[in-house]
Amino acid sequence: MEFALLVLILASIATTTAAQAKPGCNSTCGELNIPYPFGTTDGCYRDKNFLITCSSTSRNPIANYSRGNIQVLNISLDGEIRISAWRANQCYLPSGNRSSGDNVNFRLEQFTISNTKNKFTVIGCDTYAFIDDYWGDRFSTGCTATCRNITDVVNGTCFGIGCCQTSFPTGVRGYNISLKSYRNHTAVWDFNPCSYGFVVEDGYFNFSSLDLKDLRNKNDFPVVINWAIGNETCQKARRNATSYACKDNSFCVDSENASGYLCKCKDGFSGNPYLSGSNGCQDIDECKTLRPCNGTCHNLFGSYNCSCPLGYKGDGFRNSTGCTLVDHSKQQFPYKDVALGAGLGFAALLVIILWLYLALQQRKLINLKERFFRQNGGFILQQQLSRQERTFSETAKIFTAEELKNATKNYDEDLIIGRGGFGIVYKGLLADNRVVAIKKSKIVDQSQIEQFINEVVVLSQINHRNVVKLLGCCLETEVPLLVYEFVNNGTLFDYIHGESEASDISWTTRLRIAAENSRGTVISALCCFNANNP
Ligand SMILES: *[C@@H]1O[C@H](CO)[C@@H](O)[C@H](O)[C@H]1NC(C)=O
Ligand SMILES: *[C@@H]1O[C@H](CO)[C@@H](O)[C@H](O)[C@H]1NC(C)=O
Ligand SMILES: *[C@@H]1O[C@H](CO)[C@@H](O)[C@H](O)[C@H]1NC(C)=O
Ligand SMILES: *[C@@H]1O[C@H](CO)[C@@H](O)[C@H](O)[C@H]1NC(C)=O
Ligand SMILES: *[C@@H]1O[C@H](CO)[C@@H](O)[C@H](O)[C@H]1NC(C)=O
Ligand SMILES: *[C@@H]1O[C@H](CO)[C@@H](O)[C@H](O)[C@H]1NC(C)=O
Ligand SMILES: *[C@@H]1O[C@H](CO)[C@@H](O)[C@H](O)[C@H]1NC(C)=O
Ligand SMILES: *[C@@H]1O[C@H](CO)[C@@H](O)[C@H](O)[C@H]1NC(C)=O
Ligand SMILES: *[C@@H]1O[C@H](CO)[C@@H](O)[C@H](O)[C@H]1NC(C)=O
Ligand SMILES: *[C@@H]1O[C@H](CO)[C@@H](O)[C@H](O)[C@H]1NC(C)=O
Ligand SMILES: *[C@@H]1O[C@H](CO)[C@@H](O)[C@H](O)[C@H]1NC(C)=O
Ligand SMILES: *[C@@H]1O[C@H](CO)[C@@H](O)[C@H](O)[C@H]1NC(C)=O
Repeated sequence: MEFALLVLILASIATTTAAQAKPGCNSTCGELNIPYPFGTTDGCYRDKNFLITCSSTSRNPIANYSRGNIQVLNISLDGEIRISAWRANQCYLPSGNRSSGDNVNFRLEQFTISNTKNKFTVIGCDTYAFIDDYWGDRFSTGCTATCRNITDVVNGTCFGIGCCQTSFPTGVRGYNISLKSYRNHTAVWDFNPCSYGFVVEDGYFNFSSLDLKDLRNKNDFPVVINWAIGNETCQKARRNATSYACKDNSFCVDSENASGYLCKCKDGFSGNPYLSGSNGCQDIDECKTLRPCNGTCHNLFGSYNCSCPLGYKGDGFRNSTGCTLVDHSKQQFPYKDVALGAGLGFAALLVIILWLYLALQQRKLINLKERFFRQNGGFILQQQLSRQERTFSETAKIFTAEELKNATKNYDEDLIIGRGGFGIVYKGLLADNRVVAIKKSKIVDQSQIEQFINEVVVLSQINHRNVVKLLGCCLETEVPLLVYEFVNNGTLFDYIHGESEASDISWTTRLRIAAENSRGTVISALCCFNANNP
């Protein structure tokens, strides 16, 4: 719809502004505009068919076309010129004798009389008339107009009462008009002494009953002539670039009414399509001529567009929605984006929390281990060990809680080889494939920590056949873990409970071991054991 409107506006602009002569040529004759290919002087017209002679002798200059005998009223680049053509008339005396008359023999050197925009018109109450081809018998047509009483005549109608009109064929370049009468106007002479016949632009002539008495000053009438370039089609004409009439930004159309072709400016351009340069088809700055935009107008080569400023919506064309403020309140809340963002954020938060939690747990574990280590006299032991490092490192070491956990498969029930009031003994496999017995005491007596450590140090240095060798201990757990050499055919437990070869241990010794052990200090027990078995 907007496009249609645009085309309409452009078309109206094109017809009103395109009327330029060749540069340096006179573009007017009186009030008549003379656009190229028409011209008044040598070099200003395309060929002799477009020559307009302008007589500046009279007050109102007369432009004559077609070798000087037809007056031109109007020239349009749409392929039409309007000329002035004489009427034919035949007048009678009351007796029926002819008083005066003029037949019309009209011809054009070039171009054709428009058959769509003109009508052959006859006026009279005792009249019939013919219009014939000037050059012979290509066509012949006519009409009859009669009336018995002037009161029968209706103003503005031309259907056979006092007036008749008819069409003639296309391509007519010349005609002869002949007027005839049935009774030499004798019966109607009172109100209609004359017959008239003429070709006139359709719609121009408005019949009145007064015309029957006298056509008064109406001696000539405007007639529309179709003009075109040459007598070839566009297709043929394009082949000769020097004679081709259509210039920059124009296109060619075959003439509908005559041979030859016409040129037109492309959409969005205006000017004279038969000229190049500044008088030719130029881009229309629609932004200035139409002011079509409500927003910002951008003139383009051959067109334009409108846009709305930031924060406004619409196509910007003034005759549509224009530019309206974007209503943010009506805009839909971007749930999707927010949900996605929130989801990602939440996930990130979870990860961070988890990481912090794990770090904290790790820290806690380390702290706990350190606390146990200190509680269990780890630092004292370390001091002791550093004092006699060489000997101890050969015989025992401080195990980490992790090492022992791995060695016992996380204190697997299946690996328990002894259980009693003193605690639990596990069989374990160290990382270096040594099989060990790991004793987990039940409780630890804080007051005896120092003594315990001393004993560990002493005991670890003992290497005796009858003594189960202490390999080391772990102080990172709540209760210290003691790691012994694993004796295949008997353990401390067996020693004590007499189910192996070591049953020769005296009962007192056994009791002491048990007593000491039950206090959680197996070391002291071993020390006693040791003392009893040098
Ligand atoms: C154009 O023609 C008119 C009428 O013949 C004349 O008055 C006028 O001076 C001419 N102008 C030029 C520029 O030749
Ligand atoms: C123009 O044509 C009319 C007749 O139509 C004639 O009387 C007149 O002399 C012509 N003028 C010129 C300058 O040829
Ligand atoms: C010539 O054309 C113009 C514009 O098309 C118009 O205003 C004018 O009346 C026309 N003159 C005649 C005599 O038809
Ligand atoms: C009419 O014409 C005829 C001859 O054609 C002539 O004899 C007669 O006198 C004319 N009548 C008048 C009134 O002129
Ligand atoms: C038309 O009129 C012209 C000039 O009077 C004449 O030469 C021609 O023969 C006429 N044509 C016809 C068909 O009568
Ligand atoms: C014309 O008609 C009017 C009224 O209808 C009548 O008075 C008059 O006589 C008529 N004239 C003729 C010549 O018939
Ligand atoms: C009409 O006039 C012509 C000559 O002017 C004459 O030949 C003809 O006979 C007349 N007709 C009548 C019906 O008077
Ligand atoms: C036709 O119109 C004219 C004025 O233009 C008027 O004088 C005349 O009486 C009208 N005729 C009829 C038949 O209406
Ligand atoms: C076309 O025009 C040229 C000269 O203008 C002429 O020689 C030729 O005969 C014309 N052709 C036709 C078919 O009218
Ligand atoms: C092209 O047109 C020019 C000018 O009308 C003419 O001189 C030339 O002979 C034409 N060329 C051809 C090939 O028809
Ligand atoms: C817009 O154009 C339409 C036709 O396309 C017309 O009916 C309407 O009146 C125009 N509105 C304005 C504001 O120009
Ligand atoms: C142009 O836009 C303004 C707001 O920017 C609006 O008020 C006005 O009505 C619009 N005009 C047209 C013709 O759309």
